[in-house]
Amino acid sequence: MDQYIPIIDIVIALSSAIDLINPNISNHHKRVAYISYSIAKEMGFPENEIKDLVLAGLLHDCGAVNLFERSSIFEFEFGNSYSDRHSHGYKGWYILRDAAELSKAAEIIKYHHVFWNEISHKRYVSSKVPKFSHILHLADRIDVLINPNQEILGQRKYISKKIHNGKDKMFMPQAVDAFENLISKPYFWFDITSVYLENHIRKIMSPYKVFINSELLIQYANIAHRIIDFRSKFTATHSIGVAASASALASKLGFSSCDTRLMHSAGLMHDLGKLCIPESILEKRGPLDQYEFNLMKAHTYHTYRIIDSIPGLEKVRDWAAFHHEKLDGTGYPFGLDYRSLDLGSRILSVSDMFTAMAEERPYRHAMSLKDTVKLINGIKTLDYDVKYCLNQNIEEINEIRRTSQEIVFQSCNEIFPDFDEELNLHAL
Ligand SMILES: [Fe+2]
Ligand SMILES: [Fe+2]
Ligand SMILES: [Fe+2]
Repeated sequence: MDQYIPIIDIVIALSSAIDLINPNISNHHKRVAYISYSIAKEMGFPENEIKDLVLAGLLHDCGAVNLFERSSIFEFEFGNSYSDRHSHGYKGWYILRDAAELSKAAEIIKYHHVFWNEISHKRYVSSKVPKFSHILHLADRIDVLINPNQEILGQRKYISKKIHNGKDKMFMPQAVDAFENLISKPYFWFDITSVYLENHIRKIMSPYKVFINSELLIQYANIAHRIIDFRSKFTATHSIGVAASASALASKLGFSSCDTRLMHSAGLMHDLGKLCIPESILEKRGPLDQYEFNLMKAHTYHTYRIIDSIPGLEKVRDWAAFHHEKLDGTGYPFGLDYRSLDLGSRILSVSDMFTAMAEERPYRHAMSLKDTVKLINGIKTLDYDVKYCLNQNIEEINEIRRTSQEIVFQSCNEIFPDFDEELNLHAL
């Protein structure tokens, strides 16, 4: 039986996940969603249009995939060049554009750093910048001016002065006027910084009961895969390879078509928690030391907690988050053993290891298929039946893995022409 999940639950989970990249600036996405909503409402836009702006706010910086980029965009004026300022909006659009219900939000995000006085610039003449992109831009810049460690009402004067100076230049004048109407209202500022913010956003979105099933879930899980994998050139296609081999194994082991699709989503999301791991560790040339390994162990914990916040996805949560658990109970983060690891979790563990061995890593080359199989067969803490199934179908499953990774690699190439220099073809 297929399950229907409210889209807002998934978007808020992804929003919290992307805030993991920079823990110093937590809740930025939710605050920007709320500020955007308030300004658009003040400007008189109907609520059913504003919902796309709220979704855009919740995910707007998903294209700023590394800590450097993520930190630099928190300067009020940032970027030495056009592409510095716009590349994360463009990447964000690419990451989100294929998900049903997010196409408008993706367009808004694409242009969320366009200055108001740039719309006459020839670069933007033909590409109608959505009005909501200007509102999102303003909301985003208001939020970066807020000092979360200080009392909020005392900051109004400074913030409004900075914003007013940008009116007609950086910012859409009507949006600045709407913001200026809100400045004197204390509740607006208390809302931005309150612990109730997430509930408030859920309430704003509650009239829009958009649900997704296991087929559409894959589109959302793809967002997670793109955000995670774009962070490191060595894992740029890892999650898609895990998803492809895990769903192929699941189908061979008798899973229903719905569960096979859920397995595909679990594969795409299994390393979601890696967003909290610094790039220096993800890209380290050499094995991790104890300190780094301790940090790394948190990634499946975060995968678990993020997916756990979406009611109805318990199966996907367990399959995704238990991929470093071991049958003898020596894995992490829960130390589960064979009594509580179901077949789905066991399939994902094997698929993760199989895919990883076939890929280049900073400290070793990709292994041959023969060596990969030999090594996996020798690991006693992996499930026997799943290993047997992999052995029986190794050529076919490897081909499914390889093709899926190649397709993603090619599409990355089209979108980001310099991508091929950064990625290592040996992985394929
Ligand atoms: Fe941004
Ligand atoms: Fe932002
Ligand atoms: Fe992992």
